[in-house]
Amino acid sequence: MTPTVGSGHDMSEGTGMRTDAAALVKSKQRVVDHGEVFTPPWLVEEMLDRVGDDAERIDARVLEPACGSGNFLVAVLNRKLATVQARHSGSDFAKRHYALFALMCLYGIELLPDNADECRDNLADAFAVFLDVDDDDVWARAARAVLAANIVRGDALTMAAPDGKPITFAEWGYLGKGRFQRRDFLYENLTYRAAFEVEGSLFAGLGHALFTPSTTYPPLTVADLAELGGER
Ligand SMILES: C[S@@+](CC[C@H](N)C(=O)[O-])C[C@H]1O[C@@H](n2cnc3c(N)ncnc32)[C@H](O)[C@@H]1O
Repeated sequence: MTPTVGSGHDMSEGTGMRTDAAALVKSKQRVVDHGEVFTPPWLVEEMLDRVGDDAERIDARVLEPACGSGNFLVAVLNRKLATVQARHSGSDFAKRHYALFALMCLYGIELLPDNADECRDNLADAFAVFLDVDDDDVWARAARAVLAANIVRGDALTMAAPDGKPITFAEWGYLGKGRFQRRDFLYENLTYRAAFEVEGSLFAGLGHALFTPSTTYPPLTVADLAELGGER
C-alpha cells in the first residue's frame, strides 16, 4: 500500500468519507492497471465550490464517468440534501421525496465491481443518514433501487456493460404527489445529444432517435421502487 497524500486515519467532518492516505490508493497494481487514485475529500470540496449552483441544485443531473467509490458523487449528494433541508424541512413528505429525487439525479460509471458496490453503499449511507432510516426502511430500499439503475458497472470509453450490451441510464423526474417518472436512454445517445444541439451538427438528422427512450415506465411511488429492490 503506497500512501499518496496526507497521513493518519481521519474522517472528513460531515462528509462521511475517510481522508487518510490509505483510502486514496488500494494497491500499486490497481494504480498501474486502472489509474485508481481516489480524490481526497478536501480537494473534492474545493472543486465543487467552483462549480457553484449546479453542485447544489436538487434537479441538476451529474454524471461521473469513472466514479470510483463515489468521492465526488457523495459530496454532491450532501450538497443537494442541504438544499432539500433548506427548502423542504417544513413537510416531511416533500423532504423525503425531494431527497430521493436528489439521489435520482446522480449517475456514475465504474469499471471495477468492488468500487461500484462501494459507491452505491456510500451514497445509500449518506441518503439513509439524512432521512434517519434503517436499511430495511422503504426509503432505504427505494434508494437502493435507484442506485442499482444509476451507478452502472461498465466501461465509460466503450459505453458498454460487462456483458457487452450498451450502457443505459434512467432519466428520473418527480411528477409531484409522491410519483416518479422513469425513462431509460442509451448512454451513447445521451452523449450525442450535446453535439446534436450544435448548429449544422453531423447528428442533426438523428434528433428523433436521440430523444426516444429505450424503455418508458408507468409512474412509480416510493413503495413501487422499494419493491424493485437493488439488483440490476
Ligand atoms: C483516478 S480514479 C478516480 C475515482 C473517483 N473519480 C475519485 O475521484 O475518487 C479512476 C477510477 O476510474 C475507474 N476506471 C478506469 N477506467 C475506466 C473506464 N474505462 N470506465 C469506467 N471506469 C474506469 C477506475 O477503476 C477508478 O475507480
